[in-house]
Amino acid sequence: MAPFLSSFKGKTALDVGTGIGRWALLLAEKASYVAGIDISREMIKIAKRRCSRPNVDFLVASAYAIPLRSNSVDLSLSCTCIQHIVDKDKQQQSLHEITRVTRNRILLLELMSKSSLTRLTHYPTLVIPRVHYMSTLKTLDIKSIADVGVDFLPLVTLMENLRNSLFKKLGIKATSYGGSLEQQALRNFYQIISVFALLFSLPFNKMVSNPSSDLTRHVLLVVRKRTEQITHVDPSSVSLQKTGNR
Ligand SMILES: C[S@@+](CC[C@H](N)C(=O)[O-])C[C@H]1O[C@@H](n2cnc3c(N)ncnc32)[C@H](O)[C@@H]1O
Repeated sequence: MAPFLSSFKGKTALDVGTGIGRWALLLAEKASYVAGIDISREMIKIAKRRCSRPNVDFLVASAYAIPLRSNSVDLSLSCTCIQHIVDKDKQQQSLHEITRVTRNRILLLELMSKSSLTRLTHYPTLVIPRVHYMSTLKTLDIKSIADVGVDFLPLVTLMENLRNSLFKKLGIKATSYGGSLEQQALRNFYQIISVFALLFSLPFNKMVSNPSSDLTRHVLLVVRKRTEQITHVDPSSVSLQKTGNR
């Protein structure tokens, strides 16, 4: 991501689904002001504890209802947040919201599928096809700058593909959470195998990073508003419309 962030020295940024604030902290080293939002109160508490820089604010807010004025930040970043919004319409709404508040550039690093809508079973995750991201963004006056695919964990992908086709053949429906005892046992079994797949994937990590590969899952989309002008912004003009839940 570094090459796409370097030109934003002194600018304002938004970290969507900031978690414990790892990207917000990194951005804050260069940006004049960073807002980190997350739907989880607990995450925001930790982020605040970890970061006491004067140019960073953390608040509890959702990606699909961002409490910022339109065009109020130069750059927005969402690193593996949208994929965890399990409602497709809300995912779309989040893209609309991120585009609305961003003046210039948007970086989205998310799990994206080739063509099908996939629900992962081990963690609430809805993976939508890359073309859905692109077609939504196209309707929002957005121009693509880069589209980089990375598969961090090839063996996990392989294992999930095997599992999905096996489940399909056997007519098993594995829910993301809850469900019958059998479904919970299946999920636990799958999680144990995933740990091994994850460990054995690590040596291949650097070898598989081809955006056109079937194995590609994480994609970094870098887009910009067609009207992008990287001008200096006074951080005081980025007002967080307080929601009372900070
Ligand atoms: C996998 S973590 C990534 C955290 C951070 N971006 C990072 O890379 O370290 C996903 C984060 O998205 C947050 N999240 C999930 N749904 C969200 C929503 N609708 N709005 C804002 N944040 C959300 C979760 O609470 C979680 O902190």
